[in-house]
Amino acid sequence: MKKVIVTGGAGFIGSHTVVELFEAGYTPVVVDDFSNSHRSVLDALRALTSADLAVYDLDCTDAEKLAEVFRDDGHICGAIHFAAYKSVVESVRAPRKYYANNIGSLVTLLGVMQEFGLENLVFSSSCTVYGQPDALPVTEATPLQRAQSPYGFTKQVCEQLIDDLVDAKSPLRAVTLRYFNPIGAHPSGQIGELPIGVPDNLVPYITQTAAGLRETLTVFGGDYATPDGSCVRDYIHVVDLAKAHVKALDWITTQKSEPFNEVFNLGTGEGVSVLEAVRTFEAVNDLKLNYTVGARRPGDVEKIYANVDKARDVLGWRAELRLGDAMRDAWNWQTTLAQRGFAKQR
Ligand code: UFG
Repeated sequence: MKKVIVTGGAGFIGSHTVVELFEAGYTPVVVDDFSNSHRSVLDALRALTSADLAVYDLDCTDAEKLAEVFRDDGHICGAIHFAAYKSVVESVRAPRKYYANNIGSLVTLLGVMQEFGLENLVFSSSCTVYGQPDALPVTEATPLQRAQSPYGFTKQVCEQLIDDLVDAKSPLRAVTLRYFNPIGAHPSGQIGELPIGVPDNLVPYITQTAAGLRETLTVFGGDYATPDGSCVRDYIHVVDLAKAHVKALDWITTQKSEPFNEVFNLGTGEGVSVLEAVRTFEAVNDLKLNYTVGARRPGDVEKIYANVDKARDVLGWRAELRLGDAMRDAWNWQTTLAQRGFAKQR
């Protein structure tokens, strides 16, 4: 049995990865403290996988509790570390929370992995480490810029920590995945993103506006140096992203035992503007969205999208779903949430 520890396995990307791991023959073991996820996700995961799911309710900065997972569950072949806070805005307001949790949980996990002789790690990073790059698309060799937020800095520090351990010849075989903009939901409508409070991110704001939970979407900035004046991003369907984690784990286990940390961009390779994203949402779901174009949001980069050749060439992975698929699945998820009685929380 190929057991895999999935920290943050009840979260948005984590839960989709749990499903893909099952489908690929792995046995995920979920570790989550439910501070930013909902326990109902577990029922959905059990229904989707028809499997008994091992779940540990704990904070990954607690080394003793985390060690129990390794002790109880035994024969683990790798860990995928999602558990982290992820709001750029909140990180500016509460930096200590981000430093303590995002860096603390990786430090703790790496310590416990070493204690139990586990070497294989997939780490969740973000394209935020690139800041506003000078040239597009960004490759993994594009120099990192000074982080624009404490959240972004925690991702840079975590990546550096993994590199430093590799340099120190610690027994670690790691893949760092830099996500571009993950959106969408599982096509079953059973799992998706569950933002707590007012969403910061574009697609949950769009779906909540379409559902009547928010009045109007504000497109942040219409005067950027882009074809239609709105910001450009690389939106990737969360199911494609989840599949990349399985490929990464498969790939690590075929490598020789020298320590390494290989970094991969995960995106579609295509830049899409906010206005194009809105229009695609309207077209695939056949509805009209209330939106206005407003002021720029502080800290936003103008445009960023990925070069994804390395993931294709090394991992044999590429995004298969389109923006329209993601917008359809996001809306399907939103309507399912409404049926389940999840109302606006703030
Ligand atoms: N946007 C709007 N209106 C909204 C929300 C967002 O116009 O109500 C715009 C933003 O200005 C941006 C685009 O939609 O141009 C995407 O914004 P998101 O907040 O969805 O995503 P970001 O690109 O800002 O952030 C994402 C991840 C972060 C990560 C960052 C790296 O959410 O975790 O990419 O660039 F750090």
